Amino acid sequence: MKYFVANWKGHKNLAEAAVWVSDFNTQIENYPQIKTKLTQGAIKIILCPPHSLIYFLRTLLAALPNITLGAQDVSRFGEGSYTGEPVAKSVQGLVTHTIIGHSERRHYLGESEEAIREKMRLAKEYTLAPILCVRGPQDTMYKEAALVAYEPVSAVGTGHNEPIENVLRVKRQLAPAAPFLYGGSVNKNNVKEYIGNDQIDGLIVGRASLNPHEFFDLLSDA
Ligand code: PGA
Repeated sequence: MKYFVANWKGHKNLAEAAVWVSDFNTQIENYPQIKTKLTQGAIKIILCPPHSLIYFLRTLLAALPNITLGAQDVSRFGEGSYTGEPVAKSVQGLVTHTIIGHSERRHYLGESEEAIREKMRLAKEYTLAPILCVRGPQDTMYKEAALVAYEPVSAVGTGHNEPIENVLRVKRQLAPAAPFLYGGSVNKNNVKEYIGNDQIDGLIVGRASLNPHEFFDLLSDA
C-alpha cells in the first residue's frame, strides 16, 4: 500500500474545500484504474485539512473510497481548561491520523521534543495514529509512530526536493518499524522517483495537494 498524505496547512475555507472534493471526486469517477487502486487498498489517502474543516469534510468524503481524514497537529495538553487548543479528544472519531512534529511547527512555534513526546502520548490515548515528521535521526520519537515521514527542512515548501539517495540513506539510518514516507516539494515531475521506489511507502504532499487535479495526477504514478 502507498500512502498519500495531503497536508493543506493553513489553506482553504469551507467553499474551497467543497470545490476540492467535488473536483477530486470527478477525477476518481473519470479514472477507474485509480478508483480500483483505492477500492482495493493499493493507495490510501489521508487528507489533513485545517481543524475547522474536519467535520464538514468528513461528511463530504464519506462516499469516496479509502480516503480518511487526519489532523495537522494535536495539542500537547489533554482535556481541560486550555482555551483555543486543538486537544486530541476533540477530533477523536473524526480523524484516523494526526501529523505530529511538522518542521513548520518546530520552527515557527518552537515545538520541542518534550512537547512532541506529549502529543504522541495523547494521540495514542485518543486512538489517533501519529504520522511523525522527522528532520533526521536527531528526532528520536519515530520509534513510537504509526507512520514515519522524513521531511528534510531544506525540501519542505522550498521547491527543492531531496535526492532519493539521501532519503534512502536516512531510512537506513532510522530503520523504522513503521511505514516510511517522504515529504518535501513533491510534485508531478518528481513523484515517480519516490513512489516508484519500493523502499518508500508513501508521501506527504503540501503545495501540490492544494489543487485537486495536481494531487490526483500524483496518484497516477503509484
Ligand atoms: P511541500 O510540503 O510539499 O509544500 O513541500 C510538504 C509538507 O510540509 O508536508
